[in-house]
Amino acid sequence: MERLIRTPEEMRALGAVLAAVCPPGALVRLEGDLGTGKTTLVRGFLAALGHEGPVRSPTYTLIESYETGARRVHHLDLYRLNDPEELEFLGIRDLLDGEAVCLVEWPERGTGVLPEATLAVHLRHAGPARRAHLRAGGAEGGACLEALAGRPLPGVPGDS
Ligand SMILES: Nc1ncnc2c1ncn2[C@@H]1O[C@H](COP(=O)(O)OP(=O)(O)OP(=O)(O)O)[C@@H](O)[C@H]1O
Ligand SMILES: [Mg+2]
Repeated sequence: MERLIRTPEEMRALGAVLAAVCPPGALVRLEGDLGTGKTTLVRGFLAALGHEGPVRSPTYTLIESYETGARRVHHLDLYRLNDPEELEFLGIRDLLDGEAVCLVEWPERGTGVLPEATLAVHLRHAGPARRAHLRAGGAEGGACLEALAGRPLPGVPGDS
Protein backbone atom coordinates (compact mmCIF):
# COMPACT_ATOMS: atom_id res chain seq x y z
CA MET A 1 0.00 0.00 0.00
CA GLU A 2 1.39 3.41 -0.92
CA ARG A 3 0.24 6.88 0.16
CA LEU A 4 1.49 10.38 -0.49
CA ILE A 5 1.70 12.01 2.94
CA ARG A 6 1.82 15.76 2.40
CA THR A 7 2.35 17.30 5.84
CA PRO A 8 3.63 16.45 9.34
CA GLU A 9 -0.02 16.47 10.47
CA GLU A 10 -0.83 13.78 7.91
CA MET A 11 2.22 11.80 9.08
CA ARG A 12 0.92 11.91 12.65
CA ALA A 13 -2.48 10.79 11.34
CA LEU A 14 -0.79 7.83 9.63
CA GLY A 15 0.75 6.94 12.99
CA ALA A 16 -2.68 7.16 14.61
CA VAL A 17 -4.32 4.84 12.11
CA LEU A 18 -1.45 2.36 12.55
CA ALA A 19 -2.00 2.45 16.31
CA ALA A 20 -5.63 1.52 15.71
CA VAL A 21 -4.80 -1.65 13.76
CA CYS A 22 -1.52 -2.79 15.33
CA PRO A 23 -1.99 -5.99 17.34
CA PRO A 24 -0.37 -6.48 20.76
CA GLY A 25 3.22 -7.67 20.41
CA ALA A 26 3.68 -6.16 16.94
CA LEU A 27 7.09 -5.10 15.67
CA VAL A 28 6.90 -2.22 13.20
CA ARG A 29 9.91 -1.29 11.09
CA LEU A 30 10.15 2.43 10.31
CA GLU A 31 12.50 2.63 7.34
CA GLY A 32 13.65 5.74 5.50
CA ASP A 33 16.40 8.31 5.21
CA LEU A 34 17.14 11.03 7.74
CA GLY A 35 14.24 13.41 8.18
CA THR A 36 11.60 11.40 6.34
CA GLY A 37 9.17 11.55 9.28
CA LYS A 38 9.69 8.34 11.26
CA THR A 39 9.65 10.03 14.66
CA THR A 40 6.71 12.19 13.58
CA LEU A 41 4.75 9.01 12.82
CA VAL A 42 5.64 7.64 16.28
CA ARG A 43 4.31 10.85 17.87
CA GLY A 44 0.95 10.30 16.17
CA PHE A 45 0.94 6.65 17.14
CA LEU A 46 1.51 7.45 20.83
CA ALA A 47 -0.93 10.36 20.90
CA ALA A 48 -3.65 8.10 19.50
CA LEU A 49 -3.10 5.71 22.40
CA GLY A 50 -3.54 8.56 24.86
CA HIS A 51 0.08 9.55 25.52
CA GLU A 52 0.22 13.25 26.42
CA GLY A 53 3.83 14.01 27.33
CA PRO A 54 6.76 14.66 25.03
CA VAL A 55 8.15 12.06 22.65
CA ARG A 56 11.91 12.41 22.42
CA SER A 57 13.89 10.91 19.62
CA PRO A 58 15.85 8.01 21.19
CA THR A 59 18.86 8.68 18.99
CA TYR A 60 21.29 8.49 21.89
CA THR A 61 19.34 6.42 24.39
CA LEU A 62 18.40 3.90 21.61
CA ILE A 63 15.10 3.22 23.35
CA GLU A 64 12.27 5.14 25.04
CA SER A 65 9.38 3.24 26.56
CA TYR A 66 5.85 4.52 27.12
CA GLU A 67 3.02 3.21 29.20
CA THR A 68 -0.10 4.52 27.52
CA GLY A 69 -3.59 3.82 28.75
CA ALA A 70 -4.06 1.27 26.02
CA ARG A 71 -0.65 -0.32 25.58
CA ARG A 72 3.02 -0.37 26.38
CA VAL A 73 5.07 1.00 23.47
CA HIS A 74 8.83 0.80 22.96
CA HIS A 75 10.30 3.34 20.53
CA LEU A 76 13.75 2.39 19.28
CA ASP A 77 16.13 4.35 17.08
CA LEU A 78 19.06 2.17 16.05
CA TYR A 79 20.88 4.85 14.04
CA ARG A 80 23.78 4.87 16.49
CA LEU A 81 23.87 1.15 17.10
CA ASN A 82 27.43 0.02 16.43
CA ASP A 83 26.71 -3.68 16.22
CA PRO A 84 23.41 -5.61 16.02
CA GLU A 85 24.66 -7.67 18.98
CA GLU A 86 24.14 -4.59 21.17
CA LEU A 87 20.43 -5.23 20.79
CA GLU A 88 20.83 -8.31 22.95
CA PHE A 89 22.22 -6.10 25.74
CA LEU A 90 19.22 -3.80 25.37
CA GLY A 91 17.06 -6.79 26.21
CA ILE A 92 15.35 -6.86 22.80
CA ARG A 93 14.00 -10.37 23.38
CA ASP A 94 12.15 -9.27 26.51
CA LEU A 95 10.84 -6.12 24.82
CA LEU A 96 9.31 -8.17 22.04
CA ASP A 97 7.97 -10.84 24.28
CA GLY A 98 4.41 -10.05 25.21
CA GLU A 99 1.85 -7.35 24.61
CA ALA A 100 4.04 -4.33 23.97
CA VAL A 101 4.39 -2.79 20.51
CA CYS A 102 7.91 -1.98 19.26
CA LEU A 103 8.38 0.84 16.75
CA VAL A 104 11.89 0.70 15.33
CA GLU A 105 13.64 3.48 13.40
CA TRP A 106 16.74 2.45 11.42
CA PRO A 107 15.91 -1.27 11.72
CA GLU A 108 18.59 -2.09 9.11
CA ARG A 109 21.18 -1.52 11.83
CA GLY A 110 19.75 -4.46 13.75
CA THR A 111 19.84 -6.95 10.88
CA GLY A 112 20.55 -10.45 12.13
CA VAL A 113 19.23 -9.81 15.64
CA LEU A 114 15.96 -7.96 15.08
CA PRO A 115 13.20 -10.54 14.46
CA GLU A 116 10.85 -10.46 11.49
CA ALA A 117 8.51 -7.49 11.58
CA THR A 118 4.72 -7.49 11.59
CA LEU A 119 4.67 -4.39 9.41
CA ALA A 120 7.24 -2.28 7.62
CA VAL A 121 6.66 1.37 6.77
CA HIS A 122 9.10 2.78 4.24
CA LEU A 123 9.21 6.58 3.97
CA ARG A 124 10.77 8.57 1.11
CA HIS A 125 11.19 12.25 0.44
CA ALA A 126 8.85 13.39 -2.35
CA GLY A 127 9.62 17.08 -2.80
CA PRO A 128 8.23 18.72 0.34
CA ALA A 129 6.00 15.69 1.00
CA ARG A 130 6.73 12.05 1.80
CA ARG A 131 5.82 8.78 0.17
CA ALA A 132 4.85 6.02 2.57
CA HIS A 133 4.96 2.40 1.45
CA LEU A 134 3.50 -0.18 3.83
CA ARG A 135 4.13 -3.87 3.59
CA ALA A 136 3.23 -6.83 5.77
CA GLY A 137 5.52 -9.42 7.25
CA GLY A 138 3.60 -12.63 7.81
CA ALA A 139 -0.10 -13.38 8.22
CA GLU A 140 -0.59 -11.07 11.18
CA GLY A 141 0.84 -8.16 9.21
CA GLY A 142 -1.40 -9.05 6.29
CA ALA A 143 -4.45 -8.80 8.53
CA CYS A 144 -3.18 -5.40 9.70
CA LEU A 145 -2.92 -4.12 6.14
CA GLU A 146 -6.41 -5.37 5.38
CA ALA A 147 -7.74 -3.55 8.42
CA LEU A 148 -5.94 -0.41 7.24
CA ALA A 149 -7.45 -0.69 3.77
CA GLY A 150 -10.92 -0.53 5.33
CA ARG A 151 -10.25 2.79 7.04
CA PRO A 152 -10.03 6.37 5.84
CA LEU A 153 -6.30 6.99 5.41
CA PRO A 154 -4.40 10.28 5.59
CA GLY A 155 -2.86 11.69 2.43
CA VAL A 156 -3.69 10.59 -1.10
CA PRO A 157 -2.96 7.36 -2.99
CA GLY A 158 0.77 7.12 -3.71
CA ASP A 159 0.48 6.95 -7.47
CA SER A 160 -1.39 10.25 -7.72
N1 LIG B 1 4.70 14.21 5.41
C1 LIG B 1 5.52 15.19 5.70
N2 LIG B 1 5.63 16.22 4.91
C2 LIG B 1 6.48 17.20 5.20
N3 LIG B 1 7.30 17.25 6.28
C3 LIG B 1 7.23 16.24 7.12
C4 LIG B 1 6.35 15.17 6.89
N4 LIG B 1 6.50 14.29 7.89
C5 LIG B 1 7.43 14.80 8.70
N5 LIG B 1 7.88 15.97 8.27
C6 LIG B 1 8.90 16.85 8.88
O1 LIG B 1 10.18 16.29 8.61
C7 LIG B 1 11.07 16.62 9.67
C8 LIG B 1 11.80 15.39 10.14
O2 LIG B 1 10.87 14.51 10.74
P1 LIG B 1 11.31 13.36 11.76
O3 LIG B 1 12.19 13.88 12.82
O4 LIG B 1 10.05 12.70 12.15
O5 LIG B 1 12.17 12.42 10.79
P2 LIG B 1 12.93 11.07 11.11
O6 LIG B 1 12.66 10.19 9.95
O7 LIG B 1 12.56 10.56 12.46
O8 LIG B 1 14.47 11.49 11.09
P3 LIG B 1 15.75 10.75 11.74
O9 LIG B 1 16.18 9.68 10.77
O10 LIG B 1 16.76 11.86 11.83
O11 LIG B 1 15.34 10.19 13.06
C9 LIG B 1 10.23 17.29 10.75
O12 LIG B 1 10.43 18.69 10.65
C10 LIG B 1 8.82 16.89 10.39
O13 LIG B 1 7.88 17.85 10.83
MG1 LIG C 1 13.71 9.99 14.08
